[in-house]
Amino acid sequence: MDKIKLAVIFGGMSTEHDVSIVSGSSVIKNLNKEKYEIKPIYINKNGEWFLYTKNIEQIEILQIGEEPIELQEIKNPIEILKSVDVVFPVLHGLYGEDGTIQGLLELLKIPYVGCKVLGSALCMDKVYTKIILDKAGINQAKYVYIRKNKDKITYIDEQFNEKELQFDELCDIIIKKCGLPVFVKPSNSGSSVGISKAKNAEELKKAIEYASKFDSKILIEENINGRELECAVIGNDVVEASCIGEILPAEDFYSFDAKYNNSESKVIIPAEINPQISEEIRTIACKAFKSVDGKGLSRVDFFLEKGTNKIYINEINTMPGFTTISMYPQLWEKCGKSYSKLLEELIKISYNK
Ligand SMILES: Nc1ncnc2c1ncn2[C@@H]1O[C@H](COP(=O)(O)OP(=O)(O)O)[C@@H](O)[C@H]1O
Ligand SMILES: [Mg+2]
Repeated sequence: MDKIKLAVIFGGMSTEHDVSIVSGSSVIKNLNKEKYEIKPIYINKNGEWFLYTKNIEQIEILQIGEEPIELQEIKNPIEILKSVDVVFPVLHGLYGEDGTIQGLLELLKIPYVGCKVLGSALCMDKVYTKIILDKAGINQAKYVYIRKNKDKITYIDEQFNEKELQFDELCDIIIKKCGLPVFVKPSNSGSSVGISKAKNAEELKKAIEYASKFDSKILIEENINGRELECAVIGNDVVEASCIGEILPAEDFYSFDAKYNNSESKVIIPAEINPQISEEIRTIACKAFKSVDGKGLSRVDFFLEKGTNKIYINEINTMPGFTTISMYPQLWEKCGKSYSKLLEELIKISYNK
């Protein structure tokens, strides 16, 4: 049987470039080389495309901060994409997980792993994800949506009416709706970049300023005092949910450092929770995935509120971390799908979505 020609794209122009290098090299290393003829494609931070020319059998998992070195410039990315049967875009964040590369691949009529344009774009944008999840009746933290351009702050209400506000007026609205502390997030972000927790008005001002460096659209959220639980889903029309994993961040919250630089952060699979809650989370994960037009895969993240055991959805990651120790593949490993089997299944279901 002829090998399947598969392009694995990694790196990319987002703040999650480094994470994508680890994810992408893990995918390449674990793909069955008997079955797939792999074209590893690296996109640098400037958006230039390269073929990673290292002998495929010798590609090892790159570490955070490491860059692939054996590179050959790709002058015509479209030509190389057209030469393969299927693409696995292992890209996180903007220009990868947000519908842009998905749009390019749709245009070229090349099957690819993961969500399509709409699902990718929706889940990349935290505000719009919340709007759809509200519509689906899924419980989530209360929130306020604003836009910040230079010194101008615009408050956008639930009917999308816009009003320019002074910081003090905005502060009142936020505290009334969400209390304190609050989480302040750039609407388009990932790996916790640009996110901070604000305990008072002064910190809130700084947090908004900081988030606005990454996106003019900003989401401010009620703080949920809960355990962080994650569930992996796979499928298209029929969706399967994994067991539940728990994150124990080493810091006050699961910040970029807690995620990637602090070995004290722990992952527990399966999470030690009541089976009924676990079942409920799995059901919500599938519903949430469907409600954002999810295809292929996603990792759906939750909070389980301490004291009340109330379940809150936090976000949907359409291309979650994919290193061998990342939550998504590990959750499936616990359910009996090895990393390599998981890759095969994702590629297989990418043709009919
Ligand atoms: N509303 C919230 N209540 C409590 N903790 C939160 C809340 N929102 C975010 N966090 C913390 O911040 C981390 C990053 O936020 P998240 O929305 O998941 O952003 P990212 O897409 O960058 O992962 C979460 O894993 C959690 O630790
Ligand atoms: Mg997250």
